Amino acid sequence: MNILILGSGGREHAFAKKISESKRCKQLFIAPGNPGTAQFGINVPIQVTDIASVKQFCLNNKMDMLVVGPEAPLVEGITDAFRSEETKHIGVIGPDAFAAQLEGSKAFAKSFMKKYHIPTAGYLEVTTENIEAGFAFLDTLASPYVLKADGLAAGKGVVILNDLDEAKEELRAMLSGKFGAASSKVVIEEFLDGIEFSVFALTDGQHYVLLPEAKDYKKIGEGDTGLNTGGMGAISPVPFVDDTLWQKVINKIVTPTIEGIKSENMDYTGFVFFGLIKVGNEPFVIEYNCRMGDPETEVVIPRIEDDLVEVFQDAISKKLEGKKLTFSSQSAATIMLVSGGYPGDFEKYKRITGVDDVQDSIVFHAGTTEKDGDILTSGGRVMAITSVAENFQEAIRISLKNAEKIHFEGKYFRRDIGFDL
Ligand code: AMP
Ligand code: GLY
Repeated sequence: MNILILGSGGREHAFAKKISESKRCKQLFIAPGNPGTAQFGINVPIQVTDIASVKQFCLNNKMDMLVVGPEAPLVEGITDAFRSEETKHIGVIGPDAFAAQLEGSKAFAKSFMKKYHIPTAGYLEVTTENIEAGFAFLDTLASPYVLKADGLAAGKGVVILNDLDEAKEELRAMLSGKFGAASSKVVIEEFLDGIEFSVFALTDGQHYVLLPEAKDYKKIGEGDTGLNTGGMGAISPVPFVDDTLWQKVINKIVTPTIEGIKSENMDYTGFVFFGLIKVGNEPFVIEYNCRMGDPETEVVIPRIEDDLVEVFQDAISKKLEGKKLTFSSQSAATIMLVSGGYPGDFEKYKRITGVDDVQDSIVFHAGTTEKDGDILTSGGRVMAITSVAENFQEAIRISLKNAEKIHFEGKYFRRDIGFDL
């Protein structure tokens, strides 16, 4: 099969490595890819939301499968575009635009969860029309107050505040366009106090297979302090996810979600990412994503023993019923090396050295570019160093040792991934 992966991060590098290992993969392309993905396939200079060019490339080069990494092209309707006559033979991993609202609209996701009785925080949907009801709802809640821009806001649309007056002010600011059109609608949520983790399923719209669970570390600072990032590290499996919790997640969250997808007749062949929180001993949904996580993919994929292309084919031909994936019993951990200043302003194009000295880890490129034979930084998150070992502590130890061997000006990483477990 000829396969195109869309994206350019560590997630897509991890997919490219795994897909290239499949005996069913003939030619692999990545658009736009990065210097890491270029080790496993051919990078094509097309941007992920340039849907017309992606389609044309797939037709010209006889693709059989399209694997969509990030959410933006899904929310913008790439899957719908591929359902047209000339491309409908190309299998797409990723839901259509209607189903992608589970990630693209917080209000859509909340009303879906309410309809299918999926445990989640109590909420109210607010626009300028019912802002007074928003203030009144805030009055009924205890601090802290959770305000979410309805639409995609580059990971910045969730604001958590301790002070009631500030929360009301923030609600007004969001509705007045603080996050552009994304916050013309706001979801106010009850605050859930617990520990977060993530579960992933691949669905064919009717049935699903589960992937290994993971926990990511979103804050820039050690001890989970400072600003939110795309993710500074991750581990899989998650020690506190025991059989009892796993069964509750399946029975109360995953199965009803897939039932809901089926009942709503969603065109959903792809990943469902359940962002969960354990409150006491009960799991609740914080958010859905319609794609795999990054850096979660960099610890989840290395633990999957199956041929991923076969699994994708089963999903595309709606044959996931009764299927189950095999996971390695070992632990995987990843540590993200980031540019100094991230998630605020940072400088790009710093030369990266030392990658060849890394031993016993996989280095996934996240934000890198190649120039005249050198690898340079090109993003906030630069490289994810993944290790697999008997337990996550040992995997972290190996990744930390290798993090010291890679050099670029301004390099920063967290040394405490897994500290809370
Ligand atoms: P989201 O984009 O919805 O995943 O929210 C970003 C982060 O905000 C989550 O990872 C949580 O740490 C936090 N958060 C979101 N919703 C809630 C909630 N209802 N209660 C507590 N924390 C939340
Ligand atoms: N690491 C969180 C995400 O991919 O959304």
